[in-house]
Amino acid sequence: MKTLDSKFLRQTLGKYSTGVTVVTSTDDGNPIGMTVNSFTSVSLDPALVLWCIDKKQPSYNSFMNAKGYAVNILSKDQNDLCFKFSSQEDDKFKNIIWKRSENGFPLLENSLAWFDCLKWNYYSGGDHQILVGEVTSFNSLELEPLTFWNGQIS
Ligand SMILES: Cc1cc2nc3c(=O)[nH]c(=O)nc-3n(C[C@H](O)[C@H](O)[C@H](O)COP(=O)(O)O)c2cc1C
Repeated sequence: MKTLDSKFLRQTLGKYSTGVTVVTSTDDGNPIGMTVNSFTSVSLDPALVLWCIDKKQPSYNSFMNAKGYAVNILSKDQNDLCFKFSSQEDDKFKNIIWKRSENGFPLLENSLAWFDCLKWNYYSGGDHQILVGEVTSFNSLELEPLTFWNGQIS
């Protein structure tokens, strides 16, 4: 098969605008989280969503071993959380206000919306893993979204 230019592919995929989320979970009861834009809805009945994690992420095994995850959709004034949760900071939850969902996963204060999910099925997709979760509870606020397009957050 023809070898594609992966840098150009990444740039071109970036022409599709998305929202920005922080997906959280727990490892041994401790909160974990990372910035994610691969989130999408899958099914209404059952209520399914998905996101994709790079198999090389430091938190990959923690997410794989957890019973599920929470998706926090970021609002326009949560720019700082986007950068914090895509960094290698030791304690990403320091100085952040959050509470536990019914499933025990971190919900970040003032997110535009959140979905509390239990593992439904996970699939391998090349160098990423596709994590399909069943939504067990959710909520939203009337806020403007943070967006990601062409490599820019706005
Ligand atoms: C806007 C944006 C979207 C991202 N989306 C994803 C994603 O969908 N999947 C992924 O594996 N990494 C994604 N990342 C990269 C991770 O957030 C970043 O590598 C993070 O440090 C991983 O967390 P960890 O080091 O705790 O494992 C994204 C980063 C940014 C800034």
